[in-house]
Amino acid sequence: MFSAKGSSLSILILSLASYITVNHLFAPRVHKINENVWWGVGPEQNNDTEIREFNINVPEEVITDLKWRLKHHRPFRPSIGTANQYGTNSIFLDEFIDHWENHYNWTEREIFLNKYPQFKTRIQGLDIHFIHIKPDTDENKKVLPMLMVHGWPGSVREFYDVVDILTNNINRNYTLELVIPSLPGFGFSEATTKPGLSLAHTAVLFKKLMNRLGHEKFYLQGGDLGGITLQILSALYPESVLGYHTNFPVVYTLKSYIKPILGVLYPSWIVKPEHYERVYPLKDRGLFIFRESGYFHLQSTKPDSLGVAMDNSPEGMAAYFLEKFITGSNFTYINKFSSKDLKEKFSFTGLIDNLMLYWVTQTASSSFRMYFESFEDGFWTDSIALMSTPLSVRTAIFRSKYDLYMADGVLNEIFTNNIQLNDYDASHFPAFEIPQTFSDDLLNAVDKFEAEQI
Ligand SMILES: *[C@@H]1O[C@H](CO)[C@@H](O)[C@H](O)[C@H]1NC(C)=O
Ligand SMILES: *[C@@H]1O[C@H](CO)[C@@H](O)[C@H](O)[C@H]1NC(C)=O
Ligand SMILES: *[C@@H]1O[C@H](CO)[C@@H](O)[C@H](O)[C@H]1NC(C)=O
Ligand SMILES: *[C@@H]1O[C@H](CO)[C@@H](O)[C@H](O)[C@H]1NC(C)=O
Repeated sequence: MFSAKGSSLSILILSLASYITVNHLFAPRVHKINENVWWGVGPEQNNDTEIREFNINVPEEVITDLKWRLKHHRPFRPSIGTANQYGTNSIFLDEFIDHWENHYNWTEREIFLNKYPQFKTRIQGLDIHFIHIKPDTDENKKVLPMLMVHGWPGSVREFYDVVDILTNNINRNYTLELVIPSLPGFGFSEATTKPGLSLAHTAVLFKKLMNRLGHEKFYLQGGDLGGITLQILSALYPESVLGYHTNFPVVYTLKSYIKPILGVLYPSWIVKPEHYERVYPLKDRGLFIFRESGYFHLQSTKPDSLGVAMDNSPEGMAAYFLEKFITGSNFTYINKFSSKDLKEKFSFTGLIDNLMLYWVTQTASSSFRMYFESFEDGFWTDSIALMSTPLSVRTAIFRSKYDLYMADGVLNEIFTNNIQLNDYDASHFPAFEIPQTFSDDLLNAVDKFEAEQI
């Protein structure tokens, strides 16, 4: 008893000391980013600003080759354990690969994926792919541009089921113009061959994309890497941001790591009692994040070794990517799982669409590099510094209970001007999983942002 109290007290004192020190030493600063890096191959040609129509049109031989690979894989080593304790379950994977090989019709899906207008345009030497939904002009409605950015291992596919809900909201006096780009090196956005293209540089590219489409000020929506990109965009260009709706609010300040330690003694100082388990016990929470984030460390340090396997084996890619959809939709699936559980949230067809965007473009490998470029130096890259910058822009937060990373009790470290915070029994991929709920939350946020707009 006595020693437990004693150690709690020393933790408290140590934490206080580090809290004060760290606060002074590492107060985040807004870094400037070089906005003119030429990411393309060949000599600089900044004059090409054309916006070209784009349609997905995958050569037949790519699909034939894929079918061959799906048919000829070696049998999977049967999983130990009944669920996903060791990674994606082999029985589930068998069922999924069978679906991909025998029930997934690319001809049909290509038509589906082409159902929204897509374009490419060159920015700093890279062809950036994006979906662009311009509403029919209606004089009575204000058109509000919104940039929506996906993450990893997601894609623009995450947003397909929200587009119609967001653009057909007849009861409002505004309508959204959606711009949905692929991150550079993901899907149909070109990958650079040069080092350094991080999420911070991506924020620059996407801001220029919006400017090129004629928008000086716009709304933002993002999650995962897309969320970090837009958090950085908000820090770099607050004057461009009308409001930022995020389903992945990242708080990675040193202060935010110290506060929960201080809160060990009085958790209710940090989080609401019904949210205790999101933060405490610290040891369990820490071990959970440690166990589930191996991918992050690997992709941040040795992306290319992993990339070779993922770009050559659709089964390997499915196992690796789906693990994120499984554990990222309900972490209880790590220990108890049937494919029915996942199918209640995402259709196999939708999940395969998403994989296809990586497979046919061979961009699993280049997508991993985004982690290397953004987080490789560990602690203090430009991307990390920028995403740790308190935001002056107005924000709205959609928080998913089953997200693997969850900031609770520390949001105001970064989101200093937050106007809406809602908690949902949702996954890491809410636009993809529960499009109606997600869209309602987003539109409610825009209502509030607009009501306050001068
Ligand atoms: C852009 O500039 C380069 C040289 O600076 C020139 O060769 C090229 O034709 C120009 N392209 C366009 C589209 O004007
Ligand atoms: C795939 O879909 C296309 C377009 O709907 C259809 O013509 C074709 O018969 C389908 N293929 C199979 C194997 O079902
Ligand atoms: C998550 O899984 C648990 C246990 O299987 C279940 O009780 C809960 O309803 C699930 N929640 C969601 C949102 O999937
Ligand atoms: C749009 O409607 C909202 C409330 O529904 C109102 O606050 C706002 O002033 C309206 N804007 C315009 C331009 O009519």
